[in-house]
Amino acid sequence: MHEVSVRSPATVSNVVCGFDCLGFALEEPFDEMTVRKIEAREVRIINRDDYGLPTDPAKNVAGVALQALMDAGHMDHGFEIEITKHIKPGSGIGSSSASSCGAVVAANRLLGDRFSKLELVDFAMAGEMLASGSRHADNAAPCIYGGFTLVRSVDPLDIVEIKFPALFATVIHPQIEIKTSEARAILPKDVPLTDAVQNWSNLGALVAALSSGDYDLMARSMVDLIVEPARKSLIPKFDEVKNACLAAGAIGGGISGSGPSMFMLSRTQETAEAVKTAMHNAYSQSGIEFNIYVSRIHPEGVRFV
Ligand code: HSE
Repeated sequence: MHEVSVRSPATVSNVVCGFDCLGFALEEPFDEMTVRKIEAREVRIINRDDYGLPTDPAKNVAGVALQALMDAGHMDHGFEIEITKHIKPGSGIGSSSASSCGAVVAANRLLGDRFSKLELVDFAMAGEMLASGSRHADNAAPCIYGGFTLVRSVDPLDIVEIKFPALFATVIHPQIEIKTSEARAILPKDVPLTDAVQNWSNLGALVAALSSGDYDLMARSMVDLIVEPARKSLIPKFDEVKNACLAAGAIGGGISGSGPSMFMLSRTQETAEAVKTAMHNAYSQSGIEFNIYVSRIHPEGVRFV
């Protein structure tokens, strides 16, 4: 086997009260990537899209993640990677982790699956560090494991896969860019204890609700007192969109990753489509272009084609 092709999915992280720890994988959009073994001990990058991302592997998240894998495996060869991105960089739906994770999962298959999923997330985090200045895994974990994941700890890395019931996500991506590093810089450094207690109560209840399929508890738990209030001003019409979606029957939702995308979860595809209409109507008055995706939560992460 000399080359492996994968589809690497978009992911939603920071699931409302789960800042930096709770995320899930979408079925679409996804990036397409092909990785080949090469004799030279280096990473070569070929971009097949119009995003103008760097081809210098030290400046490209996929390159950095692959280099982390090569260092861990003491390899005597390198990899060439061809990337066609469909997930726009800076969209808040895990564009950088899709690149990093797709690269290391495909390379690992070429190596006979030498590394575990946990190790692959660790390599992908090198890409997240390059993109945002922080080693978080709340996009990379669901991108590799699929479904819902909770990152209990980054160092040492500890990932919990969470059972979940039938759920559909509606995601709106306004065509503005928010840099994760900037969205992190505006977060409060100190948090009132009462808000912290409410947030970790909500997160515990949300995880329990996902596992047991209790949609009402899910709705009550999807409240964030810490990050959403600080970041929502970066996203035009955030409150209008959220209120319209809840009125259309969504269980709950909020900012996807560090924005500008917003997501809503629904119990059925029919409701998710009604939520799409609500998002469309609410955003049409903003003067900002947008895309909307309706996707089931994908039980798999990066998949081979
Ligand atoms: N948890 C990260 C953040 C996700 O919000 O900064 C960014 O993709």
